[in-house]
Amino acid sequence: AATVAAAHGACQVSCYLKPRSAMSTEGPSSSWLRGDTRKKPTAFLLRALLFICVAFRVAAALIRVSYHVAAGSVLGVARVLFAAANERCLRGMDRAALGRGSFFVGAVANSWRVLMQGLASLMFLCARADEYVRQPPSPLVLTAHDKPAAHPQQVHISTVGRNKMRISWVTDDRNTPSVVEYGESRGNYTASATGDQATYKYFFYESGAIHHVTIGPLAPGTTYHYRCGKAGDELTLRTPPASLPLELVVIGDLGQTRWTASTLAHIGGADYDMLLLPGDLSYADTQQPLWDSFGRLVQPLASARPWMVTEGNHEAEALPVVGFAPFVAYNARWRMPHEESGSASNLYYSFDAAGGAAHVVMLGSYAEFEEGSAQRAWLERDLAGVDRRRTPWLLVLLHAPWYNTNQAHQGEGEAMRAAMEALLYEARVDVVFSGHVHAYERFTRIYDNEADGRGPMYITIGDGGNREGLALKFLEDHKSAHLSVFQEASFGHGRLRIVDETSAVWTWHRNDDEYATVRDEVWLESLASPKLSMAAAGRQDEEL
Ligand SMILES: [Fe+2]
Repeated sequence: AATVAAAHGACQVSCYLKPRSAMSTEGPSSSWLRGDTRKKPTAFLLRALLFICVAFRVAAALIRVSYHVAAGSVLGVARVLFAAANERCLRGMDRAALGRGSFFVGAVANSWRVLMQGLASLMFLCARADEYVRQPPSPLVLTAHDKPAAHPQQVHISTVGRNKMRISWVTDDRNTPSVVEYGESRGNYTASATGDQATYKYFFYESGAIHHVTIGPLAPGTTYHYRCGKAGDELTLRTPPASLPLELVVIGDLGQTRWTASTLAHIGGADYDMLLLPGDLSYADTQQPLWDSFGRLVQPLASARPWMVTEGNHEAEALPVVGFAPFVAYNARWRMPHEESGSASNLYYSFDAAGGAAHVVMLGSYAEFEEGSAQRAWLERDLAGVDRRRTPWLLVLLHAPWYNTNQAHQGEGEAMRAAMEALLYEARVDVVFSGHVHAYERFTRIYDNEADGRGPMYITIGDGGNREGLALKFLEDHKSAHLSVFQEASFGHGRLRIVDETSAVWTWHRNDDEYATVRDEVWLESLASPKLSMAAAGRQDEEL
């Protein structure tokens, strides 16, 4: 490139030196072009410059062509070699996770994974050398599948409409039926439903059959026993209640490490009605078997209560060079009720809970959100349809936080905040939950960077337990520091217990403690409450 630039520069210089009249062979000034160098001493110099110009142009063209041919060949060969090596190691890792294959193959496969993740981390560190300090990585918890290929695995459930539930699972055998049998008594299935299945490919990885079946109508607050694919174990779920109270677990950036296992154990230690996850689920990060391992890790909880999720940056897995579109695995595996809420994309949707007493909006930080975008138009329609006399609680979840005093991911949610904050404020959204920053932080009610009693309370809860570790440093001199009420860089989870039409209590539970411990607690009053709607703007946290 330097040679090409030099050649181009030399040509430019010589062309500028050349007088315009020199381009003509007519007239008294053209004798130097005929080789009369004795009469015109400068003619030789000008002819030499012209020659150099042409020579540099030819050289530049040759260099350019050679570069493209060589680079294309090398990259093409490297791409094929990488894909082949990666595919073999992924299979080896998958077999090792299943307890099959030789120790040597498993060791090589895991070494490859560590090498790839190390290189990715190195690039990340080089790009953001002093961004923030993290704890050392925690080992992955790989969850093996030791049942027959037709056995359903990775079962998780999600609400669909007011009284239905979607059951999703995977089978390695791609010829198993997409059927769910269910009933209110153990082993006594009084109903069944049939759905659909699909697979996807990523490099040489091909997923198992991903099944989705919607069952119902179901009674609220009721325990059902169900079996997937006419072959699986009997599982149990409980439908959400038809009215308040409602207990929601909120957790982001979950991953599948020992920290994740600790978080899941704490969540499972107390009952709840529904789990909300504002992005970054498996941290597969293109290693597709890790999606399968994650599905098996969360199944005990995700098959028993609805898990409602939205996407984070780690779900994207886009590889434009080799033609992989973003969110392929996420959309295939974690289908959410977007069609039922009038959304054209699985990346943003909404749903009602507790018989419509709560409306939950799941926004997409990685879908277009600007004025004129489909997501923004959908959000306007969705919020316009919320009657706050019927729906006293309005919650929003998204991945990249709009308010954040942690050193990590500064400013990444700013464009979305600028595009959408006014919509949420006018709708009197009660709470906005986000993830992405691997720490816990709670703000007061805010609108447009100022404390405002009519704005949402902002909570960052990206401390589920992923392999990247915690974001340890909060900025005391940040412009939003005076709005931040509580910060702690520890793994944990949160719970929002909506008690009735006017009152709810938010608690944050830290993993570090041997027993369930509430580290942060705040009571909220619904912004639809007549009492609160009369309150003046600008109230501080203790008045929430
Ligand atoms: Fe993230």
